[in-house]
Amino acid sequence: MNERFETKLQRDLDALKAAGTYKHLRHITTPMAPEVHMEEAGDVVILSSNNYLGLADQAEVVEAGKRGLDRYGAGTASVRFICGTFDVHRALEERIAGFLGTESSLTYVSCWNANTGLFPTICDEGSAIVSDELNHASIIDGVRLASKAKRERYKHSDMADLETKLQAVQGAFPIVVATDGVFSMEGDLAKLPEMVALAKRYGAILVVDDSHGTGVMGKTGRGTIEHFGLTGQVDVITGTLGKALGGAAGGFIAGSRALVDTMIQRSRPQLFSNALPATVACSSLAAIDYLDAHPELITRLRENVAYFRSALQRIGYKPLDGESAIVPIIVGETAFAIAMSERLLARGIFVTGFGYPVVPEGTARIRVQMSAKLTREEMDRALSAFEAVGKDAGLL
Ligand SMILES: Cc1ncc(COP(=O)(O)O)c(C=O)c1O
Repeated sequence: MNERFETKLQRDLDALKAAGTYKHLRHITTPMAPEVHMEEAGDVVILSSNNYLGLADQAEVVEAGKRGLDRYGAGTASVRFICGTFDVHRALEERIAGFLGTESSLTYVSCWNANTGLFPTICDEGSAIVSDELNHASIIDGVRLASKAKRERYKHSDMADLETKLQAVQGAFPIVVATDGVFSMEGDLAKLPEMVALAKRYGAILVVDDSHGTGVMGKTGRGTIEHFGLTGQVDVITGTLGKALGGAAGGFIAGSRALVDTMIQRSRPQLFSNALPATVACSSLAAIDYLDAHPELITRLRENVAYFRSALQRIGYKPLDGESAIVPIIVGETAFAIAMSERLLARGIFVTGFGYPVVPEGTARIRVQMSAKLTREEMDRALSAFEAVGKDAGLL
């Protein structure tokens, strides 16, 4: 052990603790559901999971995973192009493409891998990437990996600034515009109709990471693109299977056949890392089938969002506006947000406080996420805790 290095690590960790920004992992002993058992806090209502449709413990999804394990074993113990890929990967990729209305799709072990695989593969010398300043960290890191591309950041959802940046990179090829569909910390939607128009005007390719929109937005849960009636007009969609669509893990890139083939040939997480476990592929397929067979889940999710949002307002909170299932409440400083989430946990409600550097300094927040499976009773219990904690903390 290098003592000097260990001392440095410990000093940095102590500084986080002193600042009140140290993160504690909580240990859950039951499946992810609206209520779980937590070793540290007992039975709690979860308001910070991306389990938007409640499919993580859905019997059909779990059973499909078990059958997958029996049929395929643990995995191929290798990367796909070296050792073959399971037929269920192809089935899932065809299903995702059909679901989103693209020609083709390719799965990765996570959307993090998909995003960090995408940008450096399609953006070489002479290309440019224009990215929203509030894009998810996986897009930011993917863009950083495309180190030969010209890179510009535009102010969050500021279409005039996006246009200025597009003008600044004219001459580059390809020009790629990257955005979240639903912004994970704000819960707002990208202005996709304007972005599609700008991308067309400036000959750019539009990439939308719809990780928080898939299964949530749009009449049939196809996501933010369906919500805006833009199916077929976005060049590249990335997304996760680790949120609404089953919740285990996995990500994808969906787009043209040539794009997907290029990713198979050249994207590094695809070439040098194992495939999505077959069990997860089987569960994800079942999750998409379940969503298509149960559109009432989307209706229920929206009803829950509307109910919780308006009840928060009635109590005196001012959540950020938005149409997604993410309801952020800005509370100010990071330590305050974390302390507030701890007080809520003491009252049986698990909801995470986010602060700097995940969000800008001074805009720390409690991010509430709704699930279709939350009952009125669970939401009311959570609202009582919010009211009590908000009064104690002097917020209300
Ligand atoms: C917008 C966005 N993209 C990508 C990811 C990463 O997804 P995954 O967990 O599949 O790596 C997340 C996860 O939080 C996200 O919110």
